[in-house]
Amino acid sequence: MSIALVILAAGKGTRMRSGLPKVLHKVAGAPLLAHAMASGSSLSPERTVIVTGHGAEQVEAAAREIDETATCVLQFEQLGTGHAVLQARPALEGFDGDVIVLYGDTPFIRPETLEAMAEARKSHDVVVLGFTAADPGKYGRLVMDGDELMQIVEFKDAGLRERAIDFCNSGVISASSETLFALLDRVGNDNASGEYYLTDIVALAREAGLSATAVSCDEAETMGVNSRVDLAAAEAGFQARKRSELLVSGVTMAAPDTVWFGHDTWIGPDCEIEPNVVFGPGVTVENGAHIRAFSHLEGCHVSRGAVVGPYARLRSGAELAEDVRVGNFVEIKNAVLDEGAKVNHLTYIGDAHIGEKTNVGAGTITCNYDGVFKHHTEIGKRAFIGSNTMLVAPVTIGDEAMTASGAVITKNVPEGALALARADQVNKPGLARKLFEMLKSKKAEQAGSKQ
Ligand code: UD1
Ligand code: CA
Repeated sequence: MSIALVILAAGKGTRMRSGLPKVLHKVAGAPLLAHAMASGSSLSPERTVIVTGHGAEQVEAAAREIDETATCVLQFEQLGTGHAVLQARPALEGFDGDVIVLYGDTPFIRPETLEAMAEARKSHDVVVLGFTAADPGKYGRLVMDGDELMQIVEFKDAGLRERAIDFCNSGVISASSETLFALLDRVGNDNASGEYYLTDIVALAREAGLSATAVSCDEAETMGVNSRVDLAAAEAGFQARKRSELLVSGVTMAAPDTVWFGHDTWIGPDCEIEPNVVFGPGVTVENGAHIRAFSHLEGCHVSRGAVVGPYARLRSGAELAEDVRVGNFVEIKNAVLDEGAKVNHLTYIGDAHIGEKTNVGAGTITCNYDGVFKHHTEIGKRAFIGSNTMLVAPVTIGDEAMTASGAVITKNVPEGALALARADQVNKPGLARKLFEMLKSKKAEQAGSKQ
């Protein structure tokens, strides 16, 4: 069965109190919209349609970045969820399969849940995802008769009896494209909110002699984000799940609650992550690597046996081969470090390639930026960069070459050469002692004149 996703993302999100459209607020470094699209993508949808409204341009740009094949349609006025889904109709022209409606502000629907809905669709025309709410609040209520879903009643329209129901509508609904739009054509807005409710399609399906049912999921999965309080709770929920997933998969963490992951962090078994490490998006860490305390990683790859930190920063494009060492107060950006390279202390490596087994001394800086352009530094194999070397890029250091401590390297260093690039040292015998005496007597004079 081919699948199309319709993701509703037109709402204003007033309670976020934000200039940014709600669905672009981030959890684990990815916009809420990206999470919703990712859960839907497990069904390999043939089409993805995003209904935008408030902040449409920004949402559309973000959607395109996440999936360039996604189509955005504009819901000019927010007249209700039913009206929102209708806006997707032109984009689904010629599509003949199942439509699944998701909300852009509901990030955690699991692929397994959507698969269970697809399964239920084999025996029912309309399938709704429900959950038993600890506090049913203002959710729409699912009126069941055995396995059959009879209707969905919105809180505002519900009587006392219906309000007593705690089986609630998550918002996720699935039906064939044909059924969905045929039913939506009949949805009116004669209700307490004056909105076109998507939820009305259930009762309309029943009237038309079609069947409907509900699949149930955990409440945590259907959590929607409406405020920054919800956003923080969503982040906490994501992190808690990710931590336990990684522990179960064989990653050692002595203080998992202090480690923060990106939405797509991948860490292999037998890695050790010390306390207070933060992973931004786009990080992969291979088996047996060791990330020491207080390190910050994003957009980088760490190979087997590498050791990073404590207090290291790996930025985007940092690529560490096996057994690389990156130590304290070292920042690496857009640089490849080959096997066994060592950059242990107080160093900035940007836009560079460092050959295998090369050792970079403390305080080394690749001076990669001239204020306008970025330039590359190339360092060969088994080279030795002396402490406090300034590598003024573009520059190349050959294999097994050496730079003297404190060198300012502006010219290429050939293979095997030693580069000395600093002022010669001059010693003045006895001058230090003289200088001290002079300064001390000056201090004594000043103290005397104050009395
Ligand atoms: C909706 C459901 C309710 C369910 C609840 C779950 C309806 C009528 N009600 O209520 O049964 O329990 O979600 O959270 O469907 N949106 C648009 N365009 C619109 C209206 C909404 O894109 O014109 C989007 C919103 O941005 C949001 C989602 O649809 O992502 C849900 O809209 P919202 O107004 O929050 O619906 P609820 O009243 O919470
Ligand atoms: Ca809502």
